[in-house]
Amino acid sequence: MKKRIALLTGGGDAPGLNGIIESTCKTLFSQRFEIVGICDGFEGVFSQRTKLISPESILGIHAQAGTVLGTSNKMGVKGREKEFCEKFRKLDVVGLIAAGGDGTFDGLRNVSSEIKIIGVPKTIDNDLSGTEITFGFDTACSVVAESVDALRATADAHRRVIFVEAMGRTAGWIALGGGLASYADGILIPELPFEKKSLMSFIKQKQDSGLRGLVFAVAEGAHPLGENPEVAFLEKDSPQKERFGGIAEKLARWIQKELAWESRHVVLGHLQRSRSPTTTDRFLTLAMGVEVGKLVAMNSWGKGVVYREGRISSAPLEELMGPPRLVTADHRWVHLAKALDIFI
Ligand code: F6P
Repeated sequence: MKKRIALLTGGGDAPGLNGIIESTCKTLFSQRFEIVGICDGFEGVFSQRTKLISPESILGIHAQAGTVLGTSNKMGVKGREKEFCEKFRKLDVVGLIAAGGDGTFDGLRNVSSEIKIIGVPKTIDNDLSGTEITFGFDTACSVVAESVDALRATADAHRRVIFVEAMGRTAGWIALGGGLASYADGILIPELPFEKKSLMSFIKQKQDSGLRGLVFAVAEGAHPLGENPEVAFLEKDSPQKERFGGIAEKLARWIQKELAWESRHVVLGHLQRSRSPTTTDRFLTLAMGVEVGKLVAMNSWGKGVVYREGRISSAPLEELMGPPRLVTADHRWVHLAKALDIFI
């Protein structure tokens, strides 16, 4: 009888998901496994929607954004663990390869003693514990950097301050990485709440120096000291209900009112997830898929594939289940920003 393994992509999509599917399947096909693709994340287990992945169907998909399996950031496992395990057993597989973020691994926490799991860290937010980088992040940073670079032209042409809103939930990695790569004039992140007075005097000083325009990279969760992040709406079925957004617009209106300097905002939104993965993200998923293959060959389950100190390796799965990994005030990227006189 053929050995079968299930493969699932969970949470918000991230560039590189198709790469991890192609790489993982190729390494497992060479070990003579059949791969049962689970459709739409956890939902596919509950509704028993799966598809057998053929070698032909995955050729070249690494270059495409999205995931050929579909995903969902709504359906959780919490409170339905028994049903999940029963339905998973019906798939008749040896174990589960799950590519996901904090929502996915949090959901798998209470079933990991019953199901053999190998986890692969994915999220544009780069905030997963246990790994120094997640795939999707580099591509999202590229979108931010290209946007900040591009918006400089119109900011200068019209003498405007432009606030560019990046995703990231409670973490500022995307705004920080993308903002540094594009030498943004300022980077606002949730981990370092900004003082409105200092921000205003920074902008005023730039204005007095004769600059025509400024461009800021702003994380969606950024907020002034003593205030809360802007929540755009709640997604009630989602394990992480808040959808952050609105800070860039708020800042633009505030600056325009306070200073005689026109201001606009741009929300990059899901464009940060919908781009063909960068070479860095392709390398990451390629190497992570090979690591999955090694773990399966060694029958080593209950592991997470991680990136640490420049290498892909593995660690206990629980290490991917910790609280979000946030930017710290003494992070070397924060020092880089300060050294370049970027407001942070
Ligand atoms: O976690 C990934 C992410 O893109 C966050 O950066 C963002 O806040 C959220 O998902 C958006 O979720 P949705 O796709 O449900 O709008």
